[in-house]
Amino acid sequence: MKEINITTSFLVYNSLEELSEEIQDLMNQAIEIRKKAYAPYSQFKVGAALLLDNGKIVLGSNQENAAYPSGLCAERVAIFHAGSVYPDAKIIKMAITAASETNQTTAPIPPCGSCRQSIAEYEIKQDTPIEIYFMGEIGEVYKSASLKNLLPFMFDKKFL
Ligand code: THU
Repeated sequence: MKEINITTSFLVYNSLEELSEEIQDLMNQAIEIRKKAYAPYSQFKVGAALLLDNGKIVLGSNQENAAYPSGLCAERVAIFHAGSVYPDAKIIKMAITAASETNQTTAPIPPCGSCRQSIAEYEIKQDTPIEIYFMGEIGEVYKSASLKNLLPFMFDKKFL
C-alpha cells in the first residue's frame, strides 16, 4: 500500500482592485452578463467571461429550466459558445462571479464539478492552461493558474 498526495494551489486577492486592469475588465464583463442570467428558480445568478487568444471575449450566464436538470451553468454556456464560434482559438483566461438575490455572496464561488470537467476538455484540447479567476458578488478573488488545480486526478481522453 502507498499513499499519493496531490497538492493544489490558488492565489487569493482581497478584492478585484488588487488585480490587473485586464482582469478587472474581464471580471466586470462577467458581472454585467451575470445580471442577465435567467435564474428564476434558484435566484442565484452566475456570469462567466472568457478571453481568447484571438482577443475576443465570450460571455455566458446561467440559464435555468422548469425541468431543473435541463438548465445550464454560466461557465458551460460561455465555454460551449466559444468552442462553437471560435473552434481554433485558445481560451486564455476565465472570470466567474456569482450573486444570490436572497443574500449577499461574499465567498468566492468556484465552478461546479460538471463545469470543471467541461473546462478540462478545452484545456487539454488546446494544450495551454486556462487561468481561472472566481469571486462572489464582492470580496476575495481566487486565481487558479490552470483548471488542473480545481480538478486534480481528472478523467480525460488519455484513459480512453
Ligand atoms: N451555477 C452556475 O452557473 N455555475 C456553477 O458553477 C454553479 C451553479 C448555476 C446553476 C443554477 O442555475 C444556479 O447556479 C444554482 O445552482
